[in-house]
Amino acid sequence: MSNNFPPLKNDLFLRALRGEDVERPPVWMMRQAGRYLPQYMELRGKYTFFERVETPELACEITLQPIDELEPDAAIIFSDILTVPQALGIDVQMIQGKGPVMGNPIRSVDDAFAILAEDVPEKLKHVMDAIHLTRMELNGRVPLIGFAGAPWTLFCYMVQGEGSKDFNRAKSFLYRHPEASRHVMRELTTATIDYLRAQVEAGAQAVQLFDSWAGLLSPEDFNEWALPSLMEICSAVKEVPVILFAKGAWYALERLSFHSNAEALGIDWTITPEYAREKTRNEITLQGNFDPSHLLAPIPEIRKQTRRMIQRFGVRRYIANLGHGILPHVPVDNARAFVDTVKEYG
Ligand code: CP3
Repeated sequence: MSNNFPPLKNDLFLRALRGEDVERPPVWMMRQAGRYLPQYMELRGKYTFFERVETPELACEITLQPIDELEPDAAIIFSDILTVPQALGIDVQMIQGKGPVMGNPIRSVDDAFAILAEDVPEKLKHVMDAIHLTRMELNGRVPLIGFAGAPWTLFCYMVQGEGSKDFNRAKSFLYRHPEASRHVMRELTTATIDYLRAQVEAGAQAVQLFDSWAGLLSPEDFNEWALPSLMEICSAVKEVPVILFAKGAWYALERLSFHSNAEALGIDWTITPEYAREKTRNEITLQGNFDPSHLLAPIPEIRKQTRRMIQRFGVRRYIANLGHGILPHVPVDNARAFVDTVKEYG
């Protein structure tokens, strides 16, 4: 792949990640390419979810939709964390109104040991192609973020076989078959490192690691089952900044900030900016943590709460974002009010 990308015109996001001085915090929204955008819904009517993910031109178009509409300070490639389980042989369907469903989830020790991280970047070449194309099409407007799911969160889906509130099947497997589970975590860690490195080579300028179900683990289980993989992955991806979003892992903030090797930590809305800053001793960039459902409040209220959030985190070492993905029924004008308020700050 030729990497003669157009020069970057807005580097605010990368400067905040490096801890440099900024005029105002950068802003983007998790799941900013999604169902609250009418232009996304139009494409959703024409192609299945994985057709959209696997066709670089469609993934590129969807990635750029929120950039054109709202002009945030970063783009995130349109894809899904479940691409890695697919590359490891798990059949994933995205069912409308239900979410992901696996045709052959891990149900036995043999199933677990059959999981092998082989040729993951080759199997997911469409993602690298989408990243390369999107870098070209962005034309340097804003940096492009790549991403992957963290091993624990991927394990949850691969064993449970579908979405869940508590992932009880996955947890039960973990406790009953620790050796087989450890094998799966190791393969997922290798796969994720290979995948993220390939994304960087294809043009990703930062990457985010989503451990969406970290909060289901006790602090002890998090240390044993999630943290080692996170540390290994963050240490292995050194060419670009890594943002680690371990949702619900407030109890591990201190450890993550000093031992994970991530450049930034994503924060959900269940902790205060003051708590997050104190636990991380102001030494790492924090990203978050607007309650996604507060985007359903009246616009003046959104503006007020957004300004208040920035005041509390401070302008430096901070990336304004939501505490989780944007909800499908948020009016576009409300999302715009959030982005604009950050951009007008200071
Ligand atoms: O942020 C972005 O704009 C980039 C795109 C992105 C998607 N999924 C697209 C998507 C990202 C970063 C993800 C990550 C992802 N996928 C996570 C981690 C982040 C999180 O939300 O915790 C998880 C757990 C998944 C797995 C997944 N994908 C689920 C559980 C679902 C169904 C639930 C839902 O929101 O519908 C998806 C589907 C999905 N991934 C959609 C989008 C835009 C909606 C699909 C649709 O169009 O119906």
